[in-house]
Amino acid sequence: MQKGINSAIIVAAGSGSRFGSQIPKQFLLLNGVEVLAWSVHAFLNHPAIAEVIIVTSQPYLEGVKSRYPDCQVVLGGSTRQESVFNGLSAINTETEIALVHDAARPIIPDHIIDACLQKLGIFDGVAPAIAPADSMVKIEADGFSNLNRAELRIVQTPQCFKASVLKNAHTTGIIDTDEMGLVKQAFPSARLGFVEGVPDTMKITSASDLKMVEMYLRARSS
Ligand code: CTP
Ligand code: MG
Repeated sequence: MQKGINSAIIVAAGSGSRFGSQIPKQFLLLNGVEVLAWSVHAFLNHPAIAEVIIVTSQPYLEGVKSRYPDCQVVLGGSTRQESVFNGLSAINTETEIALVHDAARPIIPDHIIDACLQKLGIFDGVAPAIAPADSMVKIEADGFSNLNRAELRIVQTPQCFKASVLKNAHTTGIIDTDEMGLVKQAFPSARLGFVEGVPDTMKITSASDLKMVEMYLRARSS
């Protein structure tokens, strides 16, 4: 387990266009509690996490500050990567490990955070990933080809890194959809690995996903 300062950055600055509600999905209620609150409290209550930074958009900035007084709250950008960069700029200068988490993934069990931190003892970057259950294909101009699903993984968050590695990757000008992709492009020899995730950490993208996460919560409490 890493002994230095571990900082969690929760990105909550998206508009949720695919979800299609007036209020961004991270501010909707899940079992009566704001979606964002679930992950914020998971990290705040985890003994290895020293600070939690929430990144959000201008219309929600003051509300988030008042609802989460134990967190630092900073303004996001127009892309997820910009939001992560703004969060990274706000972490403690002594931080050793930065964990980047999507607010749209409310369920994050302690044992996943533990496993990521543990593996960072020998890796530069670690994220939870799960094996796809369905057949996977690649659509091509003249049809499709089958992919071997045993070789594929669905990558989740928190994506956890030696903070210096992630900060340096952000200075390269490379753009990617997640931190594992960014760091791999920036530093091909970086030691990056995965831990076994749980389906419960799925991302809420469309309205039906919120129902699915509610089902996961019901299954956990039964
Ligand atoms: N995010 C962010 N800043 C952005 C875009 C996304 O902080 N400019 C965050 C979202 O709030 C979410 C996470 O990144 O917690 C994952 O992004 P995604 O699921 O794509 O959320 P949205 O971008 O809000 O949704 P959509 O792509 O459907 O508009
Ligand atoms: Mg998005």
